[in-house]
Amino acid sequence: MANLQVTLAGLHLDNPVMLASGILDSTPGILRRMSKMKVGALITKSISIKPRPGYPGPTAVETTPGTWINAMGLPNPGLNEFVDEFSLTNGSVTIIPNLVADTPDEFAKLADAVAVAGAKIAEINLSCPHPKASYKGRLAAQDPRAAAEVVEAASTKLPIIAKLTPNVTDIGEIAVACARAGASAISAINTLAAIDIDPELERPILGNGYGGLSGAGIRPIGLRKVLDIVQALTAANLDTPVIGMGGICDADDVVRYILCGAHLVQVGTTLAGNPEQLSNITEGLADWMDRKGYQNLEDFRGRVLEWF
Ligand SMILES: Cc1cc2nc3c(=O)[nH]c(=O)nc-3n(C[C@H](O)[C@H](O)[C@H](O)COP(=O)(O)O)c2cc1C
Repeated sequence: MANLQVTLAGLHLDNPVMLASGILDSTPGILRRMSKMKVGALITKSISIKPRPGYPGPTAVETTPGTWINAMGLPNPGLNEFVDEFSLTNGSVTIIPNLVADTPDEFAKLADAVAVAGAKIAEINLSCPHPKASYKGRLAAQDPRAAAEVVEAASTKLPIIAKLTPNVTDIGEIAVACARAGASAISAINTLAAIDIDPELERPILGNGYGGLSGAGIRPIGLRKVLDIVQALTAANLDTPVIGMGGICDADDVVRYILCGAHLVQVGTTLAGNPEQLSNITEGLADWMDRKGYQNLEDFRGRVLEWF
């Protein structure tokens, strides 16, 4: 029988399949429902210090079957209401808050507050690709020094997962900077910077204009970025675990990420119309391992690296 158990920063998880931030996780009720799935951990929607109302619609549109563009604007109730509403300690499944902020100090404040509220680990969103359409600066995850500064500030009270953007030339360099700054894990990829146009209305399809691409079509890009991260960490003698995501739709996709060296995975867009798929994916991974005669995830992790 396949053993799917994994450890993440000292936390024991039943399996390596996590719910990605932003999908089916914006209220305690939805998270409770998702905790009934065969899932290793649940990541919350990004939480900021002050409430954010989000962008005007349309905020999410399917561009080709299974592939979506979205610019939600990180709508969330803000830190205080989040801590009041979401129980981070009672559930049967580990809940991992995902944090978003503009400065290292704000990230530190968020991380300290969720640690006090009982979180055992937090993910920091360094990488949302669609700030307001007028924004022309760089994201923290597009600059190794800025990313490292945020990780250092946020990781004093609890372990931190640094979530990276694929919208860079060398994602490995950013991952190494975050790992050296104390990140307990690297997660990738957030959505790809994108736009789509409505030819009839002669305007961008999303209310915000710009958005981020997710779902089935981005999987090969996610795999490439995870491979780049794993190779860069290995070359730097760092054993920081990598959490792979982007376009995972079934158990074969999880296998693909683990073969590229991922320790865990997150699943997002594909669940929007079918939450139960999360359990199917975990069961399918165990079936695949049984069929292949693998007992542990380590038995096949990183196999694809031998090709390079
Ligand atoms: C509707 C939507 C909302 C999202 N919101 C967040 C968010 O609040 N914070 C975050 O870090 N990532 C967010 N993401 C990115 C996902 O967590 C994930 O990185 C990305 O969608 C790739 O995985 P997928 O192809 O399985 O969806 C969001 C994605 C979608 C589709």
